Amino acid sequence: MSQTISVISGDGIGPEIMSASIRVLDALDCGFTYEYVEAGLNALDQHGDLLPEATLESIRRNRVALKGPLTTPVGMGFRSINVTLRELFDLYANVRPVVSMPGTHSRFDGVDIITVRENTEGAYLAADALLSEDGNTAESKMVITRKGSERVTRYAFELARRTSRRKVTLVHKANILKTVSGLFLDVSREVAKDYPDIECAEMIVDATCMKLVMDPQLFDVIVTTNLFGDIISDLCAGLVGGLGLAPGANIGKEVAIFEAVHGSAPDIAGRKIANPCALLLTAVQMLSHLEMQEQADRLHGAITNTIAERDRITPDLAGNGNTDSFADAIISRL
Ligand SMILES: NC(=O)c1ccc[n+]([C@@H]2O[C@H](COP(=O)([O-])OP(=O)(O)OC[C@H]3O[C@@H](n4cnc5c(N)ncnc54)[C@H](O)[C@@H]3O)[C@@H](O)[C@H]2O)c1
Repeated sequence: MSQTISVISGDGIGPEIMSASIRVLDALDCGFTYEYVEAGLNALDQHGDLLPEATLESIRRNRVALKGPLTTPVGMGFRSINVTLRELFDLYANVRPVVSMPGTHSRFDGVDIITVRENTEGAYLAADALLSEDGNTAESKMVITRKGSERVTRYAFELARRTSRRKVTLVHKANILKTVSGLFLDVSREVAKDYPDIECAEMIVDATCMKLVMDPQLFDVIVTTNLFGDIISDLCAGLVGGLGLAPGANIGKEVAIFEAVHGSAPDIAGRKIANPCALLLTAVQMLSHLEMQEQADRLHGAITNTIAERDRITPDLAGNGNTDSFADAIISRL
């Protein structure tokens, strides 16, 4: 039976990169059926609801979704739909790999890092967020649990073992955030004991950022809490040539939602110059998740070769092409 994928095209550059990516997936002949559903600003326009029940029902039924970026306005207003989806489907591990690719003008070669970010708790959930009536004081509660820390760390070590990686670094701020980051570190250390075959390192988040930009080869798999993981994974994207090359998977027990690290990029939306590769590399993760490794490898190879030969690639990679020409170049190699 063919796999049905729920597709959320998203806002900003979302529809541009999604249609290019679906063309590539069709050329790969995966036999997927796509169920297009809305979320975010498009859903609000069309259905008066940021996250319609039909969208949730589709994801629940298909258990796999490919999602474009959704805009979340800064300041007070509606809550992030991305955060809401991760919470609703209990997508506890956000897996964000970056790899150096020949043909990119990045500062380093040989970077190969996977950030595993806790995705359902911590600062991102902003529990009990309040702004005082006079607008002078803001507060927000950060909750970290043993369960959340345990399962995301275990996911990171299992991933390391499955993919023959050598090291997991626990990234924290337990010296200052003694309760919330302290609990994450204590629990993660306990989990690490179950994986004697994998080296476990610990690093404070600020030092991690410095070492990442000076000596990224020190890192292999990183596991950390929600906000730190968000920042570190963008930093890692910068190490390999930018957000146009950074994919991501939100993994839960029942459902997985695949989305690139980047946002809706309002500064380039509508110009058809967005790099589709972050979403296509996200599709590679989705294919692996669906145990379609042969197609995953073929797609990854076609993306890598297109970039190495700098064939019709987008301006973020200093190319002269656009979203569609980049997708065509990848299709020609499939
Ligand atoms: N998962 C998500 O849906 C998600 C993730 C991050 C941000 N956002 C939202 O996106 C909106 C814009 O956020 P932002 O501007 O801070 O971050 P962004 O990731 O959208 O853009 C940051 C920079 O990277 C560039 N960029 C991003 N993706 C690119 C691509 N595929 N090709 C070429 N260049 C690319 C943009 O042009 C911009 O200069 C905000 O509303 C934010 O909340 C959504």
